[in-house]
Amino acid sequence: MTTSESDRPGRRGGLILGIETSCDETAAAVVRGGRDVISNVVASQIALHANYGGVVPELASREHLRNIVPVVRAAMREANVRFEDLDAIAVTNGPGLAGALLVGILYAKALAFGAGKPLIAVNHLEGHIHAVLLEARHRGEEPMAMPLLALVVSGGHTHLYLAEQGDDAAGWTYRNIGRTVDDAAGEAYDKVAKLLGLGYPGGPWIDALASYGNPHAVPFQFNVIKAGPVRDGQPAPNKKAPVNEEGVRFNFSFSGIKSAVLRYVQAHGMREGAEARHRALSALGAPSVSAALELCDGRTLDLIASFQYAVVGVLIRQTLAAAEAYGARSIVVSGGVAANRELRRRFQEEAGRAGLSVEFPSLALSTDNAAMIAAAAWPRLLAGEFAAEDMGATPQLKLG
Ligand code: KG4
Ligand code: ZN
Repeated sequence: MTTSESDRPGRRGGLILGIETSCDETAAAVVRGGRDVISNVVASQIALHANYGGVVPELASREHLRNIVPVVRAAMREANVRFEDLDAIAVTNGPGLAGALLVGILYAKALAFGAGKPLIAVNHLEGHIHAVLLEARHRGEEPMAMPLLALVVSGGHTHLYLAEQGDDAAGWTYRNIGRTVDDAAGEAYDKVAKLLGLGYPGGPWIDALASYGNPHAVPFQFNVIKAGPVRDGQPAPNKKAPVNEEGVRFNFSFSGIKSAVLRYVQAHGMREGAEARHRALSALGAPSVSAALELCDGRTLDLIASFQYAVVGVLIRQTLAAAEAYGARSIVVSGGVAANRELRRRFQEEAGRAGLSVEFPSLALSTDNAAMIAAAAWPRLLAGEFAAEDMGATPQLKLG
């Protein structure tokens, strides 16, 4: 798509409508200049998917269809802008669920076509990184020192990117230097919470209950996938690679700890208790943390605390090791798991000891939202990088 002279980038201060439908949140936001969030509307489907203990793709698409029009209208109304006021419309084109992505893409295309505005495609993972950059810019902070290392940690991803911005503020480049080889960290939180009879999504429950248990009660060991050179796109695990070697990867693995928790539950006869807890919490509808706490015995709380202690530890260790190996000067942590309180606290402490700054998004911008999509679109608007007319959903879209 092209722009006319009257629509040239930044004419209205870079007013962008962002749309995000990659998973289970239908979201729309209006952001100015990649810096000021004028409106940010999120319709969560959590209650719907909670009945199934995870996201059901067909239901997600149907809900997006139901929500997309009212959510976009609400974002425009709250921002008090009209379509003709926009400089561009941005939409997530992947990674995510194909049907869910398509709802946002088709609607964004129709809006862009109808209003004669350029359309910008945004990678969801790039969006998570820009959630942090957006808020830092809004606070008027100095740009973060480059190179910047970004840990994107959510229900679908645990990825490390080395990010750098060109001199002209327009171009960001990303290089993937690590990822999970199996489950994402958020997925491990969700599966462990389900195993213990807690609600969905599991991360917030484990976050809330972990502080009541002993984090050293169960010493979980991680099969840390050591830094190794990349061969044929695959990491070569357990090969110690020299610092700063080109192509060194810092991967994660979370399926082992999930199985270890399962074995612990079986070995200590905790299955029935977890099932009873699940029934009791379901009967309460929307249970409080104190209700869940009363339903947890000491051993369960210790298991929860130990699981979180181990997961947070490995996330921080691998990220700091990657930062050292690649000479990163600042760290950004984003995605749903970045909402975790212990992760934030220990990251600040340990990065501080290593002399690095670490930034998290506000809680509202940690989980999926469209403000981050509109913010990531801003450099693309400046660079005039617009989506092709035949742009579709790319469920496995990579970044870097
Ligand atoms: O970024 P997000 O909203 O969606 C994806 O792109 O996946 O992340 C959702 C994930 C879920 O796995 C959820 O359990 C986890 O983030 N999560 C948390 C917390 N809040 C959400 N994990 C740990 N602690 C939290 N406070
Ligand atoms: Zn996400």
